[in-house]
Amino acid sequence: TAIGPLLPDDMRLYIREEIDSTNDEVRRLAEAGAADGAVVIANRQTSGRGRRGAAWVCPPGEALAFSVLARPAEPAGLWPRLALAAGLAVAEALELHGVTAGIKWPNDVWIDGRKICGVLVESGGHHVVIGIGVNVNVAEFPAELADSATSLWLETGEPVDRAGVFAEILRRLDVRRHQIGVDFPLLLDAVRSRCVLTGRRIRLMSADGLREGFCEGIGTGGELLLSVDGRLERILQADEVRVVE
Ligand code: BTN
Repeated sequence: TAIGPLLPDDMRLYIREEIDSTNDEVRRLAEAGAADGAVVIANRQTSGRGRRGAAWVCPPGEALAFSVLARPAEPAGLWPRLALAAGLAVAEALELHGVTAGIKWPNDVWIDGRKICGVLVESGGHHVVIGIGVNVNVAEFPAELADSATSLWLETGEPVDRAGVFAEILRRLDVRRHQIGVDFPLLLDAVRSRCVLTGRRIRLMSADGLREGFCEGIGTGGELLLSVDGRLERILQADEVRVVE
């Protein structure tokens, strides 16, 4: 698929065969003065990163690994909402393939309890890097991931046009990433209706330690609402969230 005509107008696309990490490349572009909306996509990352410093590895040619540069007009306090915008953009793009995609707050996309996409948002002084990894045409996962990961191919039963999925995510992200300010209720509604944690017992790990409780949903600022022993806590950040069976 020729990708150019499918992209939002003012988007600058950098295509790399191999790179250390698309997040690092976008950060370098940002530091060199690149404009809002620059996108780097790579076929292979030699040091792809996940959250908590974990490695993010995917076989070349099968998954999507890319990062978008945002220079939001909104105050930095609202930038963490970009993780929700990114997860939602991916979920919406995947749904066009007939799957039901859920958002695992704050930034994973799940299908039937398995992870199909991870988002890594990293901020600098005046920019944000939105990194997105999506398992599109992964036909098989290593045994240790088989229960926790899935791909669009595995869910639909056939290989999917990666460039088409990429372009659709970018189009959705172009809309959603501008809804972190006054239009946040629009973003929130769409995220809430896909939140896979609502109504579940969950365990959270953050800098403040381990917390377990019942998830009451997502609050008006995008924070997770956790009921712990009858008290409602507002969780702004968590390193890891698990559903307790
Ligand atoms: C996670 O689930 O822990 C987040 C994974 C994010 C992976 C993507 S792939 C493109 C971008 N470049 C990186 O090095 N990481 C993100």
